[in-house]
Amino acid sequence: MASAGKKVKFDNPVVQWINDRLPIYSILHDQYGNFPTPRNFNYFWSFGAIAMAMLGIMIVTGVFLAMSYTPHTTLAFESIEHMMRDVNYGWLMRYTHMNGASFFFIAVYIHISRGLFYGSYRQPRELVWIFGVVIMLLMMVTAFMGYTLPWSQMSGWGVTVITSLFSAVPLIGDGLVTWLWGGFAVDNPTLNRFYALHFLLPFVICAVVFVHVWALHVSGSNNPTGVEPKSEKDVIPFNPYYTTKDSFGTVVFMIIFMAVVFFAPLVLADPAHFRQFDPMQTPPHIVPEWYFLPFYAILRAFTIDLNIPFTHIILLPAKLQGVIAMFSSILLLLFLPWLDTSPVRSAVYRPVYKWCLLLLLLAVCALTYAGSKPPEGMPLWFGIVGTFYYFLHFLVIVPVLGKYEKTLTPPASISESVEAGHE
Ligand code: HEM
Repeated sequence: MASAGKKVKFDNPVVQWINDRLPIYSILHDQYGNFPTPRNFNYFWSFGAIAMAMLGIMIVTGVFLAMSYTPHTTLAFESIEHMMRDVNYGWLMRYTHMNGASFFFIAVYIHISRGLFYGSYRQPRELVWIFGVVIMLLMMVTAFMGYTLPWSQMSGWGVTVITSLFSAVPLIGDGLVTWLWGGFAVDNPTLNRFYALHFLLPFVICAVVFVHVWALHVSGSNNPTGVEPKSEKDVIPFNPYYTTKDSFGTVVFMIIFMAVVFFAPLVLADPAHFRQFDPMQTPPHIVPEWYFLPFYAILRAFTIDLNIPFTHIILLPAKLQGVIAMFSSILLLLFLPWLDTSPVRSAVYRPVYKWCLLLLLLAVCALTYAGSKPPEGMPLWFGIVGTFYYFLHFLVIVPVLGKYEKTLTPPASISESVEAGHE
């Protein structure tokens, strides 16, 4: 790579001098400047860049918050109030970080949906997808731990509910919960370890994003047609075309994000997150942040213990069924590249699969609604039906439909599609 890079000549003598000794500029030139990229990207392809920008914002604002935060149960809540009221621009750092988590998830959920619709997880991009799922898991753990740090009612009770789920693991469950807490209750050791990990994990995410994009640059990007580039006519250099398009997409996204930070910073917040944690008083309704709601609904969709027939011996308690289903709902995404059997990659040319994806979106909306309500009556049914469709989609519809669906014929090449005005 280094010898290939050294062929590039730069006008700026300082850049040339550095590049001759450490070819970072030629690597950037090969991987971003000149990188051959399909010419038909739409704005959904900007969400990788937007997610990267959000990751950067989260790290920068997080470091500033850490300068005023005290990770102790007696001082954590007050230290946050102090930074909101007394520290210069502390409110801005906190509101940007707090809402930034939501906007980071919005960007990544749109990025994943794009991948699902255009079949970007398919061969040869399986590893890009798998690293993506790992990033999503790490983001979830990081966000969950961050929510604990203000030591509010929602923080303390959220941790209590979610970590207690591990008690459903047979034989070692209770020991596992004590180990996670660092004691026999959610207390100072829990807060300390969550703080340490919340600080560390974003850097681990950066490392996984690096390999995610590295793997993508080996296979090259997918595009809306799902047809691989075949000739020079199908591709354009990344710079200036997509640097401009991604920058524009990122600026628009940031304007919306900043509008929320400045004009409606509490629109996504729960009032119980502004009362200090009281281990003696459980809030009436414990809800996670919106981005966890579908998974929370899957967890609570299981309400009947599985018994050995005609006995009272419980084979699989409802709680354990929920825990297994919740973790499986994410882990099964790892197998998606092999579950999809369709000869056609992009849903643009799959008339039936398109509708199934729409149903999946509705199921996720139903789950989000169910997760935000107490698990009874109608919301519980939304949760059960949503969970059923979610698993049906990935485990049955995707493999079976791929074999039998009558697909449309994709264009012979990307340039043919663009010239026909379909970009
Ligand atoms: C911190 C979070 C993430 C960042 C910063 C990130 C970054 C990127 C970037 C820069 C690209 C290339 C531009 C683009 O195609 O949009 C990309 C592509 C891709 N990402 Fe991510 N990503 C993240 C999370 C994820 C997740 C959670 C998944 C899936 C579970 C995923 C799956 C993919 C796939 C399949 C591609 C290839 C797209 C294509 O060629 O059509 N990414 N990512």
